[in-house]
Amino acid sequence: MKGVILAGGKGQRLYPLTKVTNKHLLPVGSEPMIFNPINQLISCGIKDILIVTSTEHMGDMVNLLGSGHDFSAQFTYKVQEDAKGIAHALLLAENFANGERICVILGDNIASHSIAPFTKEFLLQKEGAKVLLRKVSDPERYGIAALDERKIVEIQEKPEKPKSNYAVIGYYMYDEKVFDIIRKQKFSARGELEITSVNNAYVNDHMLTYGILKGDWTDAGTMDSFWRANQIMKKCGNRIK
Ligand code: G1P
Repeated sequence: MKGVILAGGKGQRLYPLTKVTNKHLLPVGSEPMIFNPINQLISCGIKDILIVTSTEHMGDMVNLLGSGHDFSAQFTYKVQEDAKGIAHALLLAENFANGERICVILGDNIASHSIAPFTKEFLLQKEGAKVLLRKVSDPERYGIAALDERKIVEIQEKPEKPKSNYAVIGYYMYDEKVFDIIRKQKFSARGELEITSVNNAYVNDHMLTYGILKGDWTDAGTMDSFWRANQIMKKCGNRIK
């Protein structure tokens, strides 16, 4: 399995912290934010990693991370020219994936515990996709999963009336069909190719499994959540358990 970290976007909700640099290069605890998703993939034994970021910040990203040698990993870079959504950015990973399964992490998702148990489960799955969930107190901010006893029946992106408190968080595992599925999606009202539409396509094919991530987790796209990410990383000394 190969790894993909999506680290584009404008980071406008963190302005002015992101006026001169990319959100994923800001410090959380004692390290730049993007170290956490990199270490997360490495904890799963994934060392072939594609990093997608915007044109503006590609130079800084490569200056920081280089070839991947410091992480005993191998990094590939791709530029996302326009911010047209997570699934749109993921299309850039098609050649890199080259028919293998991929584990995709949103670069602003910060966790204290490894997702390795779930990537192992996914590799035993014959086909399809797997997502990770967390109970949240502000479900209007996320993709929210409606669940029956055993499976996800639907995911709604930032619903006004959430059907549960379980957010689909920024760790996604896909088989090789994901790129064809993305190409079939339409742009949403906010002008994006939504990862939630892609995940719902797997739900409709009865091919989406889920796990619930343990430990501390947050995304870091708003001032409050960025603050929480710092507290989490300080508490665990930037190490993943
Ligand atoms: C994105 C996804 C959302 C997911 C969240 C996790 O939201 O669209 O489904 O729950 O990441 O961090 P965004 O950060 O773009 O608001």
